[in-house]
Amino acid sequence: MEIEPESAAVDRARLSLVPPQGLTPTQVSSIRALLWAAFGDKPDEAMTEGDWQHALRGTHFLLELDTEIVAYASVAERQLEVGSRQLRTGYVEAVATAVPHQRRGLGSLLMTAVNAYIREGFELGALGTGRHHFYERLGWITWKGPTLVRTPEGPRRTPDEDGSVLVMFTPASPELDPAASISCDWRSGDAW
Ligand SMILES: CC(C)(COP(=O)(O)OP(=O)(O)OC[C@H]1O[C@@H](n2cnc3c(N)ncnc32)[C@H](O)[C@@H]1OP(=O)(O)O)[C@@H](O)C(=O)NCCC(=O)NCCS
Repeated sequence: MEIEPESAAVDRARLSLVPPQGLTPTQVSSIRALLWAAFGDKPDEAMTEGDWQHALRGTHFLLELDTEIVAYASVAERQLEVGSRQLRTGYVEAVATAVPHQRRGLGSLLMTAVNAYIREGFELGALGTGRHHFYERLGWITWKGPTLVRTPEGPRRTPDEDGSVLVMFTPASPELDPAASISCDWRSGDAW
């Protein structure tokens, strides 16, 4: 495959937003192939069926070059809580750029659209990642306080996730202390 200069890819890429149930079977198989290849096969990082189910609940962000999907992200609504304050949160899942197209600005372009969508419709943006720098460049900050999940039996600490939850404030965000505890709603699979 011939790879064009970096800037050209960003200029030509076409963004689409697809509602949760709206992907075609062809799009589903392309996105799955992209995600499984991009996240690789290290046990801690590899994409799982559970991660995919979480992504399917959200609005799908697709970047296409010609007819190929080259970057993907999903944003689903979740209820995060800081103190007793419930926050209508745009939760970002499964962000990836197809391996041959990485480091050409496509992931940043996609996240710029995700950021705008979250700023417009939510009280907070949130995601879990080990790629802090990639998101911090784009306005996200690392949540410093302890993380928890609100299970049906009550709140439970998620210490392995401390330091890997990032948030983005929006015009609708109340004043929040990033050193406070933060909790997410319960779901099957990874809580964060
Ligand atoms: C993280 C990921 C989505 C980034 O996608 P991408 O399309 O490569 O993103 P960009 O090209 O916009 O930026 C990636 C890096 O390349 C750099 N970059 C961007 N354009 C560049 C260029 N023309 N030349 C060199 N570097 C460039 C950026 O500064 C950025 O650096 P950083 O990661 O240190 O912040 C991609 O690496 C990926 O799919 N990784 C596997 C899955 C994953 O880890 N997802 C995120 C975790 S939730």
